[in-house]
Amino acid sequence: MHNDIKEVLISEEEIAQKCKELGKQLAEEYDGRFPLAIGVLKGAMPFMSDILRRIEIPLEMDFMDVSSYGGGTTSSGEVKIVKDLDTKVEGRDLLIIEDIIDSGLTLSYLIDLFKYRKANSIKIVTLLDKPAGRTAAIKADMVGFEVPNEFVVGYGLDYDEIYRNLPYIGVLKPEVYSEKLK
Ligand code: XMP
Ligand code: MG
Repeated sequence: MHNDIKEVLISEEEIAQKCKELGKQLAEEYDGRFPLAIGVLKGAMPFMSDILRRIEIPLEMDFMDVSSYGGGTTSSGEVKIVKDLDTKVEGRDLLIIEDIIDSGLTLSYLIDLFKYRKANSIKIVTLLDKPAGRTAAIKADMVGFEVPNEFVVGYGLDYDEIYRNLPYIGVLKPEVYSEKLK
């Protein structure tokens, strides 16, 4: 285990098993509909890569990068498009792939945007759900795991751009971020 990690919340094996289960369900649901899978960068990258290979039907993928966070551990409430999609969403069945839903502000912004762009349908699959953080009325259609109200890192999730490459989801030792704030 990495030295800055207090505890592993979700192991590599548990994540792999979950991707398999969710992917199978999604393949059944979207069979014949050629969905557009939209990954929210950068955090969703590992999850998107793993789950998409378990959705064994034809689909298209694209990426969106929005930012609502600075370097810290709480949401600023502001959402800004850093990179937009290359694909037209009008008439498409969208599957948004997220790493974590916390306040829900990021997704509520994206859903409004995709509705405005006339998507045919919009569904959300998120690896993690932190219901305690919610301020916007957003609910994922599929959730991998619920997590407690703690700052988690790994498997795409960062603290100040670090730890995204850890293969598991873990909780940071509090002294790691207090030290950085000094
Ligand atoms: P909202 O609050 O808009 O947040 O639902 C979604 C984005 O915020 C980031 N986020 C976290 N990142 N550990 C992280 O590393 C966390 O515990 C955490 N909570 C929210 C994340 O980028 C997510 O897409
Ligand atoms: Mg994110």
